[in-house]
Amino acid sequence: MTLSSDNLNIGFLASHGGSNLQALLDAISTGALPVRASVVISNNSGSMALERARAAGVPALHLSGQMYTDPDALDQAILHTLRASGVNLVVLAGYMKKLGPRVLEAYRGRVLNIHPALLPKHGGQGMYGIHVHEAVLAAGDEESGVSVHLVDAEYDRGPVIAQVSVPVQAGDTPQTLQQRVLAEEHRLYPETLRRIAAGEIDLDQL
Ligand code: GRF
Repeated sequence: MTLSSDNLNIGFLASHGGSNLQALLDAISTGALPVRASVVISNNSGSMALERARAAGVPALHLSGQMYTDPDALDQAILHTLRASGVNLVVLAGYMKKLGPRVLEAYRGRVLNIHPALLPKHGGQGMYGIHVHEAVLAAGDEESGVSVHLVDAEYDRGPVIAQVSVPVQAGDTPQTLQQRVLAEEHRLYPETLRRIAAGEIDLDQL
């Protein structure tokens, strides 16, 4: 089914602070992003992401490996929740776990992630949080940035659908770079979803 603002029901997965989730929920509530937030799932029962979802009136669920020690049972529970919520696009916003094969198969080509660097550089296992920005500075790169990409079974792989560059500044620390990159994440993710809803990006053509 072609995604459009008439039918886009998003399921979010997030693990921690959820500042990207907040930027997206804010864009939805102002109408700048004309889609529905159908459910927020977190593997972390105490995450800000779940609090932010509840504050926005979005169903919020904790589903984790603590509740389902069998990874396949967790995969099934996540898939069931997404389907029961009518989700047709899965948006990862700082989700620190790998999705299981059932969800990946059911939502093939319909799972997005955001990464705080210019993929394919500085992605892959272990490249999360501050480690990404440390790697950019250690490599002497003149620019970093933000990538929104489709998710497949590998970390930070799958076609990039939107990118924005963030120049590295003299005297940057991993923390200062992280802050500037995060500010761009909060712009690029809502804008990319808006373009999908508007038919300007067709996920089936990637
Ligand atoms: C972001 O830097 C995002 O790119 C990465 O995880 C971080 C999540 O931050 N995938 P937040 O929870 O949205 O504040």
